[in-house]
Amino acid sequence: MAVTLALLPTPLVQAPRLAAALGVTSLLVKRDDLTGFAVAGNKARQLAPIVADAQAQHADVLVTGGTPGSNFVQAASAAAAWGGLRCVLVLAGDPVPLTSHPNLAAAAAWGAEVRFTGDADRASVDAQLPVTAAALREQGFSPYVVPRGGASATGADAYRVAVDELLEQLQGRRPVVVIACGAGGTLAGLIAGNVAHGRPLRIVGASVSRPVEDVQVLDLARQVAALRGEPAPRADDVELVDARGPGHGLASAAGDAAACLALRAEGLVLDPVYTAKALAVLPAAVGDQAALFWHTGGLLDAVAGFMGEDR
Ligand SMILES: Cc1ncc(COP(=O)(O)O)c(C=O)c1O
Repeated sequence: MAVTLALLPTPLVQAPRLAAALGVTSLLVKRDDLTGFAVAGNKARQLAPIVADAQAQHADVLVTGGTPGSNFVQAASAAAAWGGLRCVLVLAGDPVPLTSHPNLAAAAAWGAEVRFTGDADRASVDAQLPVTAAALREQGFSPYVVPRGGASATGADAYRVAVDELLEQLQGRRPVVVIACGAGGTLAGLIAGNVAHGRPLRIVGASVSRPVEDVQVLDLARQVAALRGEPAPRADDVELVDARGPGHGLASAAGDAAACLALRAEGLVLDPVYTAKALAVLPAAVGDQAALFWHTGGLLDAVAGFMGEDR
């Protein structure tokens, strides 16, 4: 049996008060905020095969990165510690105190070493990851590089498997699925899984960090399908809506309103960067169809959001 970090299956629950508040016919919530490893949310699924692959390749350092407040780097730090690997994080921008964001503080608490690119552009991380890995190799270490967000086929495959889990829980129901999309690994896996099952679901990715035309999800979904020898997704299997609002990492008024409804109607905690923006686009995306909101976590980002606002 494959090693998992997440406690699976995650619950699938009805959210009738939130459905009424949002004006949708019915609403299910897939609780991947409750994956139960660190504060990893959706990333707990992806990090298990990533750490297993690093171990299989006899790596001793996980090298990855993102923004200083990234949920993924927090989750990756915990997964590396769990797997007995050193963790080096490459973060965009100038150095900030480790206490400047709960995710960064948690990553440090799990023992990650932090480096900054000096450039706020997230692409600076992508450029720096191989450089950092090469320097570690020169020092005699064996690094394993994980792209931002864990968006590799190895990681995304965990969400291919999550489709099996969801379809079993749905017992024939066919809601429209709405999920936040950042680097795209999560959505890519879901698309590959949906295609493998003969396309029973409509899946809408709420792109929160880049314009929809820049989301590289089809190629990754095809890589996942190829790994398993399953049918290749087509371009029309990818459905994305722009949910960025004012931009990546910036709260939106619509997202804040949706998060407030979720909190007060169902006690669901949404973060301003991913999940709140995804829920905000759900009513328009599903119309009069039954809806399923795939909650991907982001708890520490939500806490950061609460601290920054006078609620
Ligand atoms: C809370 C949360 N939801 C959704 C996502 C999007 O996942 P992906 O990067 O696989 O698209 C992330 C990514 O970091 C996240 O932290």
